[in-house]
Amino acid sequence: MEKPIGVLDSGVGGLTVVKSIQKILPHEDIIYFGDSKNVPYGNREEDEIFTLTMAMLKYFEKRNVKMVAIACNTISTIADRFRDKFDFPIVDIITPTVNHIENMGIDKMVILGTDFTIRTKAYEKLLRERRKDYEISSERSPRLAELVDRGDYKSREIYDTIGGHLESISQMGNFYNIVLACTHYPIVEDIFLELDPTLNYINPGFQQAKAMRMILHEKGILKKEGKGSLQVLTSGSPEIYQMVLNKLEMRDVGEIKTVEIPPYLE
Ligand code: DGL
Repeated sequence: MEKPIGVLDSGVGGLTVVKSIQKILPHEDIIYFGDSKNVPYGNREEDEIFTLTMAMLKYFEKRNVKMVAIACNTISTIADRFRDKFDFPIVDIITPTVNHIENMGIDKMVILGTDFTIRTKAYEKLLRERRKDYEISSERSPRLAELVDRGDYKSREIYDTIGGHLESISQMGNFYNIVLACTHYPIVEDIFLELDPTLNYINPGFQQAKAMRMILHEKGILKKEGKGSLQVLTSGSPEIYQMVLNKLEMRDVGEIKTVEIPPYLE
């Protein structure tokens, strides 16, 4: 029996990454864990995010995974704190996205992310290491991830929140490339496009999946045959996960289960 890949997020957002993983790594078995009980992470302090994430990583360690993808920008800002604690590779979502932006050859962009992601300046710092002259603007959303995790995609509140961000981005100057730097946001990319179809929305999930494939290939642990599987686990309620899976038109979902994982005690 080959080892599965673990994918984690604070909630449903990481399913947008799983969609790309299924496309790029169709033979892999995936265990997804979304910590909906504790979402949103983006309004928390670093130590809380660390402790909650350690609990998920410890759970994946017990499930004998061969790799973990942090399908969450907020947690990825502190990915280095986890790497030396586990034997399996831990792939963050920010580094592959910055590599992609560099390859795109663009000069300016807006980073739209959670309060924590923007506060850490994680994207900005990494981008500036590549090119000092990037023009980078940031827009922080303390609300959107939580609204998406609630699952009411037709609500006035979601439309008003996204509309408000697009309005403030339009006042920042002439920006065209918007990094959807929270994995919850691509779930409602259709609303972004409905409200402003003229902008280019960059979805980091695809870049993360490509980075995962490269690491699995380099380590010789890429699964090359057989039908991949997906098990979705959450500390919250499964209904919203089914709704998002349907919205993203995702395939091959086995069980969706609520599980309780032990808290991490340092
Ligand atoms: N989906 C997450 C991200 O990519 C976090 C959302 C949250 O829990 O605040 O940042």
